[in-house]
Amino acid sequence: MSIQEVWEAFRSELQEVEEELQGSLRSHTALIPDVARHLLGSGGKRLRPLLVLLSARLCGYRGREDRVLGAVVELIHSASLLHDDVVDHAEVRRGRPVANLLWNNQTAILVGDYLYSKALRLAVGLGSVRVMETLSEASLRMAEGEVLDLVHSGDLGLSETEYLDLIEAKTAALIAASCRLGAVLAGRGVEQEEALYRYGMGVGMAFQIADDVLDYTAEEKRLGKALGKDLREGKVTLPVIRFLEKGRSEETQRVRRLLAARQFTAEDLADICGMLRDSGALAYAVSRAREYARDAVAALEAFEGDPLRQSLAVVAEYVIDRDS
Ligand code: IPE
Ligand code: IPE
Ligand code: MG
Ligand code: MG
Ligand code: MG
Repeated sequence: MSIQEVWEAFRSELQEVEEELQGSLRSHTALIPDVARHLLGSGGKRLRPLLVLLSARLCGYRGREDRVLGAVVELIHSASLLHDDVVDHAEVRRGRPVANLLWNNQTAILVGDYLYSKALRLAVGLGSVRVMETLSEASLRMAEGEVLDLVHSGDLGLSETEYLDLIEAKTAALIAASCRLGAVLAGRGVEQEEALYRYGMGVGMAFQIADDVLDYTAEEKRLGKALGKDLREGKVTLPVIRFLEKGRSEETQRVRRLLAARQFTAEDLADICGMLRDSGALAYAVSRAREYARDAVAALEAFEGDPLRQSLAVVAEYVIDRDS
C-alpha cells in the first residue's frame, strides 16, 4: 500500500474536514478569513486530520465527529504555524510568502490566537471532557516546546536528550493527541487510547527529526520553505548535535563559528551540508527517525491483522521518506 492510496481512501472524509475548516473561518472582521485562508488555502499535507480519521476508524468509530476533530487539530496546527513563522523570522511556507511578511507580525499573532480559540470552541461543542483534556494537554506541551526551542536557540551545548524532549513537546504531542482523539471518540477504553497515543508519539518524533533533516537536504521548491533556515536561526537540531559530537575537529570548529555568527553564504551552507552528510550525521538522524517509526508501529500490536494498521504503518514510513 502506498501513501497515495491511504490519502485516497480518506478523500471524502478529508473533504468534509475542509468544509468544517471553511465554515470555521467566517468572521465579521474580514482580516481574519483573509489571513486564515492565505495559510489554509496554500496546501499543507493535513497529516493531523488524516491521523484523527485513521485512528477513529481503526478503533471502530462510525460517527461524524472525527471530521470536526480533524478540523480542530488542523486549526491548532495552523495557529502554531502562524506563531512559529514570526518566532523563526520565516519568509516562505507552503511555497508562499508568510502572513507575517504579507501583513505583519501583529496580524499573524492575533489571527493565530483567533484560530486557536476557534479550535477550542469547535471542540467544546462535542461535550467531552476527555476530548478537552487531550487537546489542552497537547496545546500546553506545544506552547512549552516552542518556548524551549527559543530558549535553546544558539545553544551549541544542546544534548540529544534535551533535543528529543524539546521536539516531543513542540511537535509530537499534537500528533499523538490527534491519534488519541480517534480512540477517545470510539470510546473503547484506555488501552486503545494509550496504544494510539504511543503510536502518535513515535510518528511525531520521526516527523520532526525528518523535518530537521529536510532543512538541510530537501529541494527547496518541493519543501515550500527556505533551506538552511534552522542554522541561520541558530537552531541546533539532531544532525548538527551528532556532527558536533562526532565530526572532525577542524570541521566542527568551523560549524561552531558559523552557528555562533548566524551568517553564512550559500557556499558555507553547501559545505555544511556536505560535512553533515560525509560525517554520517544526517544518516544517523534518519536512522533515529526510523527507530521511532518502528516503535510507533509496534505500539499497535493489539490491532494485528487489521488493514487499517497497515495504513498507519505506511504513514509512519511516509513521515520519514517525504520530500515536503
Ligand atoms: C510543519 O508541519 C511544522 C512542523 C511541526 C515541522 P507540517 O510539515 O505538517 O506542515 P504542513 O501542514 O504540511 O504545511
Ligand atoms: C515546528 O518546528 C514547530 C511547530 C510546532 C510549529 P519548525 O520551526 O522546525 O517548523 P517549520 O520548519 O518552520 O515548519
Ligand atoms: Mg519554523
Ligand atoms: Mg520553529
Ligand atoms: Mg523545521
